[in-house]
Amino acid sequence: MAATSASPILVEKKKLKNPPLDVHHLGDRVLRQPAKRISKVDDKLRDLIRDMLKTMYSEDGIGLAAPQVGINKQLLVIDINFEDADAPPLVMINPQIKSTNKDIEVDQEGCLSIPGVFLDVKRPTAVEVAYKDENGRPQRLKATELLARVILHEMDHLNGVLFVDRVENKVALTQELQKQGFEQKAVRSIV
Ligand code: NI
Repeated sequence: MAATSASPILVEKKKLKNPPLDVHHLGDRVLRQPAKRISKVDDKLRDLIRDMLKTMYSEDGIGLAAPQVGINKQLLVIDINFEDADAPPLVMINPQIKSTNKDIEVDQEGCLSIPGVFLDVKRPTAVEVAYKDENGRPQRLKATELLARVILHEMDHLNGVLFVDRVENKVALTQELQKQGFEQKAVRSIV
């Protein structure tokens, strides 16, 4: 079936030898800039979304925010069903958190911008988010558990916040960063 502009953006969920976009790493300034709102959802933006998805699947990621590929825009791609070839990914344009749950859970997180570092982070167990989809249509989603965590992690990227900023165990943080060759001073702790 031919794809139309009303279809979700589907790319093959596979690893490419040469992903279309480079992922910026901890210490790079682009990760610390607040992202700008997107005013127009057009084919050019959909091309970027497609490239972000291809890059995310190539790097074994379940979420990627535009600032991570050096683009200062409020855009996220997420796919926690990466093993299901037919499950459409989630694309969020100008996402806004409407509410979060009061319950907090600790779980391990990682980030394509901080490869090899996995540490515990506290997050609300549920989030409600409003956004535009890849066709510019307003959407609202209530997410829980892993999906809520991924959304909150990716939303942080749009505000220049990285998960290591939220790590409470500073001993583990220092150890992990050192092991992977990242500089401690690149962290901007907010906990
Ligand atoms: Ni990340």
